[in-house]
Amino acid sequence: MRARITGTGSYAPAKVLTNAQLERMVATSDEWIRERTGIRERRIAGAGEACSDLAVQAGRNALEAAGLSAADLDMILVATCTGDHPLPATACLVQHQLGATKAAACDVSAACCGFVYALSVADAYVKSGMRHVLIIGSEVMSAIMDWTDRNTCVLFGDGAGAAVVSAGDAEDDRGILSTHLHSDGKFNELIAVPGGGSRIPPSEKTVAERMQCVKMKGNETFKVAVRTLEEVARETLAANHLRVEDVDLYVPHQANVRILTAVMERLGVPPEKVVINLDRYGNTSAASIPIALDEAVRAGRIQNGSLVMLGAFGAGLTWASAMIRW
Ligand code: UT7
Repeated sequence: MRARITGTGSYAPAKVLTNAQLERMVATSDEWIRERTGIRERRIAGAGEACSDLAVQAGRNALEAAGLSAADLDMILVATCTGDHPLPATACLVQHQLGATKAAACDVSAACCGFVYALSVADAYVKSGMRHVLIIGSEVMSAIMDWTDRNTCVLFGDGAGAAVVSAGDAEDDRGILSTHLHSDGKFNELIAVPGGGSRIPPSEKTVAERMQCVKMKGNETFKVAVRTLEEVARETLAANHLRVEDVDLYVPHQANVRILTAVMERLGVPPEKVVINLDRYGNTSAASIPIALDEAVRAGRIQNGSLVMLGAFGAGLTWASAMIRW
């Protein structure tokens, strides 16, 4: 028996922030952002709209697509680095809002890889007896942006994507074929929110120095991203005895179109087999893959039997992939 994705959903806040608007906030240009990243605009959560609010909308859409109600869920996993509060887990707020009365709930902290890590956890739980696990990548990155730092504030956006992972039929070989998770903490300082945790608790100083915001060494991150995304894709293909050309659709983490182009060229994947939506959303961290996946499903780019590969990369550093027979 395999675990299968039986429904996907997503949600993006209504407010759009364009490159032209950012030009009036920091010393940047639409041309620089488009050429260096591929991003044209991103969504920004409304006042009072938090991570769990986005997650609930995406989760409801995924449940509807799966034909399930919240009461059917055994577990809810929310992958996020921008939860509503340090405590409790955002997944518990989602569990309450959805009315998932019998579901366990916890968050997964693996930054941009969070959705693929959550998929791997859900896969393991379903294989060990759970029936339905709702996994959600949800981020309000705008809440941890330094809106005076052009190195980061042009890159990120808000949104949520979700998938229901369910037990498949015993004789059906479709489903999650494999997941591959990696980390290397020696790169922990490349992407970090340095203040506000137990290492440097919140204080007037941390706020004055904007230590509650994301700091990123983009160029160094870029190089590791290209290398590890290629490596983990090759590992995933080899583990399943598949060739690059067998894959119908590649759904990668949406950080930078130049990272994706470099990885696809190295692997030999043609552009029409790659889902790219970062032009409209920017980098939504853990939400990026499930939003792209949901859009691909709803556009008919993924059909029953399609071979879909996911690939993610992010803070930690972490990198991860999954191969799915839809
Ligand atoms: O999802 C988590 C994983 N994150 C990533 O994968 C991000 C990976 N990194 C990247 O996407 C790219 O490195 C960036 C888009 C962040 C930066 O692009 P880059 O080509 O690596 O640029 P750079 O950092 O080498 O900077 C080039 C120049 C610098 O100016 P000088 O020092 O050459 O004069 C920057 O100050 O571009 C400047 N710059 C900007 N200029 C206009 C940096 N940000 C901006 C900006 N607008 N927003």
